[in-house]
Amino acid sequence: PAGPWRGGDRSAVVGVAHRGASAYAPENTLAAIEEARARGASTVEIDVQRTADGELVLMHDTTLTRTTDVEEVFPGRSSYAVRDFTLAEIRTLDAGSWFGAAYAGERVPTFQEALDLLRAHRLNLLLEVKSPSLYEGIEADIAKTLKQNRWWLAASGHGRDAQPRLVIQSFDWESMRASHDLLPRVPHGLLGVVPEERIAEYAGWADQINPSHTAVDADYVAAVHDAGLEVFVYTVNRPDDMRAAIAKGVDGVITDYPDVLLKVIEEE
Ligand code: G3P
Ligand code: CA
Repeated sequence: PAGPWRGGDRSAVVGVAHRGASAYAPENTLAAIEEARARGASTVEIDVQRTADGELVLMHDTTLTRTTDVEEVFPGRSSYAVRDFTLAEIRTLDAGSWFGAAYAGERVPTFQEALDLLRAHRLNLLLEVKSPSLYEGIEADIAKTLKQNRWWLAASGHGRDAQPRLVIQSFDWESMRASHDLLPRVPHGLLGVVPEERIAEYAGWADQINPSHTAVDADYVAAVHDAGLEVFVYTVNRPDDMRAAIAKGVDGVITDYPDVLLKVIEEE
């Protein structure tokens, strides 16, 4: 398949650091992006949501409770949802201590900060739009930010080596359709399993189908490839599962351990 990232190159799968290298540093922080780079990932996956005052920030859960000290800093609030806090409030939170004392004081990054750091390190971005049904118009907010950062919309490399720097993905396929309409030249991925008989419907505009590694076999991967799309599987953390995913023919492996994946690829 001539998919966006792996293209015609069948030599190695693409390694994607999940929420940054989240086995080693608190997920969706700048520290996790630094760790992804240090551990050899070419690409980083992050989750983006929107604050009460309309700012895009990195966060996986739709509430702030698991990965920050929000309940200590703002006791007694009726909601701890990302969407109910301003950026200024969120910036006071510690997003690292839950993971380990070494990361005390790590902040929740803005999308812009993540873009800047990834660019500085020449890392590609697999951008997940998390729970877009909670954030009306978030696709347009993301498109606006990317248009203000045109480097991200340009290909890296030239000719046969030309490759996008960014793929946008979501479990919400309607959101991806809307995002594709706003950014038609940016590749888009559908998270989850698109039923085989419906792949052709999406192949007109989508570029990747990205399911759980446990949900697909080699025949499914081949069917997606036949439709001209790539397959990136999540979240593959055990070496045996990495080998199994590669044997199924996937194009990319999303993992909390990008260094372990690199070792597995070298053994192949
Ligand atoms: O990149 C896919 C993967 O991140 C989807 O699951 O829950 O980790 O966002 P989740
Ligand atoms: Ca994700």
